[in-house]
Amino acid sequence: MEKQQTSTLWGGRFSESTDAFVQRFTASVDFDRRLALHDIRGSLAHAAMLARAGLLSAQEHAAIVAGLGEIRREIEQGRFEWSVELEDVHMNIEARLTERIGIAGKKLHTGRSRNDQVATDVRLYLRDEIDAIAAELTRLQQGLVELAAREAATIMPGFTHLQTAQPVTFGHHMLAWNEMLERDYARLLDCRARMNVSPLGAAALAGTSYPIDREFTATELGFTAPTRNSLDSVADRDFAIEFCAFAALLMTHLSRFSEELVLWTSAQFGFVNLPDRFCTGSSIMPQKKNPDVPELVRGKSGRVTGHLMSLLMLMKSQPLAYNKDNQEDKEPLFDTIDTVRDSLHAFADMMPALTVNEATLREAARRGFATATDLADYLVRKGMPFRDAHEVVGKAVAAGVAARTDLADMPLETLRGFSATIGADVFEVLSLEGSVSARDHIGGTAPRRVAQAAAEARARLAARTAP
Ligand code: ARG
Repeated sequence: MEKQQTSTLWGGRFSESTDAFVQRFTASVDFDRRLALHDIRGSLAHAAMLARAGLLSAQEHAAIVAGLGEIRREIEQGRFEWSVELEDVHMNIEARLTERIGIAGKKLHTGRSRNDQVATDVRLYLRDEIDAIAAELTRLQQGLVELAAREAATIMPGFTHLQTAQPVTFGHHMLAWNEMLERDYARLLDCRARMNVSPLGAAALAGTSYPIDREFTATELGFTAPTRNSLDSVADRDFAIEFCAFAALLMTHLSRFSEELVLWTSAQFGFVNLPDRFCTGSSIMPQKKNPDVPELVRGKSGRVTGHLMSLLMLMKSQPLAYNKDNQEDKEPLFDTIDTVRDSLHAFADMMPALTVNEATLREAARRGFATATDLADYLVRKGMPFRDAHEVVGKAVAAGVAARTDLADMPLETLRGFSATIGADVFEVLSLEGSVSARDHIGGTAPRRVAQAAAEARARLAARTAP
């Protein structure tokens, strides 16, 4: 039987061409073209290595370098014609190279497989994206820390159970957010360090019989070392999972910030204002100014956690080594990257533009008996056991609720009715300033400490070097 001509690069052993639907079903070019420039970078390193090993002549190598350069320009200028028949980004570029430079193009794939090629491309691509995300994360943190420094002495209610608990400073609250991001940044760098190794040379799964130089390509591509095991090299997607785990936790943090901003910008709280440019109106209710950016970020956190779950399920139970399943790693990973980068960008722009309603914050702290613990601590200092002091202050608060009076506004005689040990000096501890200033220890909310913590955070950010 005469063999039917197939257009693929692997059609040698096939006697009929792929079903048209199967071709579309198995193709990845519609989404993996995003890897094109990194694919070219990987190919250039591989070609340089082949030339050094004598597997390509100097002329062949030069033709490949020139051809890939041309293809890069075609892609950058949007002139490249992507074809689903050629399945994925790798074969599209390789076919185009051969079309341009002839036989030398066909030699590029010597000692390489798409399995180690795609593992290399995704790592190169993700590494660049990690660096861009790290920069946005730092920018957001810088904004938060400046806001914290500015509002180091601004009093607000601190909450537990979303009930007024004790006064804190706004700067302290911003620095609590910053701590979450500080851990996220460390996790991102940790992920980067572990993923920055070169799978190139693992070929399909078992390595290759050509005299390749894996150290050379690893160095060329800025990886710290070649991977240690060829089977693992083509099968491993842990780095994508680790990145998505970083991303899911970061987005969880952003969703928490978002939730607070949504509450705080409401008429009921009125703690802060977002500039109009981060909000939208309602088509029917003229008074509305909706905090769309925080709401969207809060919503987007869900899909990133979903992508993490997708990748875990994708890898679960896969036998070694490469399986076509792995092609499904890209869409969740890419969408995670886009979502995280955009969410950080929006937050980094928004936070420095936030304004704080000092009087409202203060009034909210005053209204909720936020200094009740301070009164109990005062009684303890006068010699009363803490449990008794708790009871005494509870009674005073109940009286205050009934009379609609804050503790600080009660006459001394009324307060002395709850305990005779109370003296005129009590008003120092019942004041909001007295309350926050008293919490003057590492990690405390005293304005002096918050200003210092902001300065330290600023210095840590300034000391960050590009990864
Ligand atoms: N498009 C494929 C992927 O993303 C490239 C590797 C294909 N390898 C293979 N043996 N079919 O995983």
